[in-house]
Amino acid sequence: MKKIKIALTKGRLEKHAINIFKSIGVNVKELEDKGRKLVFHCKNEDYDIDFFLVKAPDVTTYVEYGAADIGIVGKDTLMEKNKQFYEVLDLKVGKCKFSLAALPGFDINKGYNRKKIATKYPEVAREYFRKKEIDVELIKIEGSVELAPIVGLADAIVDIVETGTTLRENGLLIFEDICDISARMIVNKASMKTKREEIGDLIDKVSRVIA
Ligand code: PRP
Repeated sequence: MKKIKIALTKGRLEKHAINIFKSIGVNVKELEDKGRKLVFHCKNEDYDIDFFLVKAPDVTTYVEYGAADIGIVGKDTLMEKNKQFYEVLDLKVGKCKFSLAALPGFDINKGYNRKKIATKYPEVAREYFRKKEIDVELIKIEGSVELAPIVGLADAIVDIVETGTTLRENGLLIFEDICDISARMIVNKASMKTKREEIGDLIDKVSRVIA
């Protein structure tokens, strides 16, 4: 049995991912009681897995370079980075969407001025407005994007909406939904060949529990 290294996204997706691996029989004890450790050795009769917990964009980097064989990461991150690996499964958890949102009265088609759009996801926003053939100015923001239209930095935002609470509590409305997002499993291209049996088995089992 070859060891598999899996990079998990810290935060919102973490619990979902751990539950999925638990339900296929992975010994996730170290992951459930993690302290400040960075690598979690999860071994039993059926699996020999080392998990790492990293930020979403780093999951793709670890997988791309082969430091992790597998990664669990949101589609939002994959859409923004477009890296070199296989996207093998939609895990159907961590469901949310990309939306264009603004204060009431906003209309992307109204007026002649080029609209300012704040976002943490400039590639997603660029592609969305390119398809619509609307020329906008994109302003990259690192977090709390909802603040931008409120204080006059931008006319609207392209951001993730999960429950809609952040928008609601800040008086913003969805102008248009862009696309749905959920957690994905990605696999390093070389690992798919060199650890075919172990990774194939894992993909089969995970796809059965999420079905
Ligand atoms: C995300 C997103 C929204 C919020 C949406 O931010 O950018 O701000 O969650 O969730 P809701 O619809 O359930 O309110 P996150 O909390 O990840 O942090 P950030 O604002 O620092 O990016």
